[in-house]
Amino acid sequence: MPVSSAPEEHLRLQNIGVSFGNVNVIPSLDLSVRKGEMVAFLGPSGCGKTTTLRIIAGLNTPSRGHIVVGGRDITRLPIHDRDIGMVFQSYALFPHMNVSRNVQFGLQMRNVSGREAEERAGRALEMVQLSHLAHRKPKELSGGQQQRVALARALVIQPSILLLDEPLSNLDAKLRDEMRVQIRALQQESGITAVFVTHDQVEALSMCDRVVVMRNGHVEQFGTPTEVYERPATAFVANFVGRTNKLKGKIGSDGVLSAAGQQLHSATTVAPGAVEVLVRPHRIHLQGQAGDTREADNKVKGTVSGLTFVGDLVQYGVRVGDDEIVVEEATRRERRPVGVGDSVVLGWSAEDTLVYPGGGQ
Ligand SMILES: Nc1ncnc2c1ncn2[C@@H]1O[C@H](COP(=O)(O)OP(=O)(O)OP(=O)(O)O)[C@@H](O)[C@H]1O
Ligand SMILES: [Mg+2]
Repeated sequence: MPVSSAPEEHLRLQNIGVSFGNVNVIPSLDLSVRKGEMVAFLGPSGCGKTTTLRIIAGLNTPSRGHIVVGGRDITRLPIHDRDIGMVFQSYALFPHMNVSRNVQFGLQMRNVSGREAEERAGRALEMVQLSHLAHRKPKELSGGQQQRVALARALVIQPSILLLDEPLSNLDAKLRDEMRVQIRALQQESGITAVFVTHDQVEALSMCDRVVVMRNGHVEQFGTPTEVYERPATAFVANFVGRTNKLKGKIGSDGVLSAAGQQLHSATTVAPGAVEVLVRPHRIHLQGQAGDTREADNKVKGTVSGLTFVGDLVQYGVRVGDDEIVVEEATRRERRPVGVGDSVVLGWSAEDTLVYPGGGQ
């Protein structure tokens, strides 16, 4: 079968389909990952992230389609003949083997044994700063240390692709932050192509070059973190990545009309009919505050229904017709006090007014 590969492309999923019994979990997936980039798979539970990784690794066989790495079709290649390392969510370390033996395992499966395997495992453990624990068993390690062993085990085979399935989900917040930085640094230093599965949008946006937002086994959007956040392709992406306000509305002859009857301006063009209007809370401001000279394409009257002081920002709930709009503003000393029950005017730009067809997602 002919395989095509763009010059910078390293991994391509071509028309991949996956079924379990008669359930079609992935209908048809196409994806192209560039050499040396780190791509995040982001999406709700059950959307097919792990299944896609397992297909790339060779742990599952697709019912349809092709996996191409570096121009070579590897769809039928056994796991250990693939140039791919994987870190599982549960780490999947062998409990009876010490750290060094765990790391050497993949090398032995590839017929690298003895001294060379030991030396390479030693170097991989150095990379994750665990040389001093090489002789411990997994149960004698903390969660973060086990995670690093799993990473060393994937890196030791010097794969051209590294797959990481929610590798940080069992770690506490501080270690998670440290490991994010460490994994990204290792990935960039080695120039390895990586696919990183996560539930966590902060992780996806902050660590990766591009983000795949998945839903029900298909790609909803594939773009840079900025594209996915600032220009979400669908209402689903806007809702899933970052927080947003939702207003019902419709497109009439002269633009967007919200359900509450306000005329709104948007930079997006959508066909006439029912629409969903989305605006991020921090893109809305209260008009007329002291020292506030911001212009707004959209100005909407409402009544403050709630107010929460969160240190460096203030979160307002504002009732506009039947809608409750959340507004987030940076705390400022010169701010005129606003209280529950006060009438306010909300302002935001046309550019920040995202309009999608349909009344829901
Ligand atoms: N071996 C299997 N047999 C039957 N169904 C499966 C199997 N593995 C996964 N599924 C189903 O395929 C779908 C996708 O599962 P997958 O594990 O890829 O989701 P995920 O995106 O990784 O979710 P999570 O974020 O919860 O890990 C789910 O509906 C799941 O129930
Ligand atoms: Mg999963």
